[in-house]
Amino acid sequence: MQTQSVCLVTGASSGLGRAIALQFARSGWQVVALARSQGLLEQLRREHAGIDILPVDLTDSAQLAAATAELSARYGRLDQVILNAGTCEYVEAENLDLGAFERTFCLNVQAVVACTKAWLPLLQVSTTPRLAIVSSLAHLFPFGRAEAYGASKAAISYFTDSLRVDLADTPIRVSLIEPGFVDTPLTQKNDFPMPFLLSSADAASRIYRALALGKLRLQFPLRLTLSLKFLNLLPYGIRQKLAARMARQAARGASQ
Ligand SMILES: NC(=O)c1ccc[n+]([C@@H]2O[C@H](COP(=O)([O-])OP(=O)(O)OC[C@H]3O[C@@H](n4cnc5c(N)ncnc54)[C@H](OP(=O)(O)O)[C@@H]3O)[C@@H](O)[C@H]2O)c1
Repeated sequence: MQTQSVCLVTGASSGLGRAIALQFARSGWQVVALARSQGLLEQLRREHAGIDILPVDLTDSAQLAAATAELSARYGRLDQVILNAGTCEYVEAENLDLGAFERTFCLNVQAVVACTKAWLPLLQVSTTPRLAIVSSLAHLFPFGRAEAYGASKAAISYFTDSLRVDLADTPIRVSLIEPGFVDTPLTQKNDFPMPFLLSSADAASRIYRALALGKLRLQFPLRLTLSLKFLNLLPYGIRQKLAARMARQAARGASQ
């Protein structure tokens, strides 16, 4: 049986998940890093002796079942699970790409629910079980072309809050992580301004501190969070007009 605390991170081959895996390993945790890209995971493993890897496509139920059996055999329990793997595809309102919705919801929502179901029994064995789910600030405001991504993050934020209610009488602590813009391969393809952009190392250290403190929800950075919350205080019609103007500006910026 593993004596060190075990932290599982999904989507650990790049971006935020990779930075979170390194942050936990450097803080003395045994980390198990999951993603599909075996080569990138092996690079990560070479960076820190405290990182194990497990290549898996989380949208494939047979692969998830095999990974769960492997986790059970290797560690016997999980102390911290961070469900971070996610994707973002922008869509065109006049020709909605159903495939983009399916892919986005499959990973950002369905796989998160499937991982939760699969790994709750391993968390229940821990004396200090913690589950964190990475959503996004994006769902707080209607951004242009974000119908699929924003809706998936709204769904998973709701799922997390509701799950916390139902697990309230158990030792499992459930945290919701809602970042603003973080510099990762996911955002490097964005062609619009990203206010208050953070490095992935900065975001990972904020997440680490929040989870160590047992925070129920982390929304960051503060300036973007407050700006979006302020916009939501405006009358609905004005908020919609502002959102439409911002979407037009972003589209003009992208075409220049
Ligand atoms: N970057 C931001 O500004 C930002 C802001 C708010 C929220 N977030 C959220 O933060 C999370 C991480 O995003 P990121 O920016 O770090 O993106 P990223 O660099 O694109 O990383 C996504 C990770 O998910 C993994 N992944 C994708 N499909 C998978 C699958 N089917 N099975 C297993 N793993 C899979 C990828 O690895 P493989 O391709 O190797 O599988 C990769 O490790 C996402 O949930 C995102 O929505 C990001």
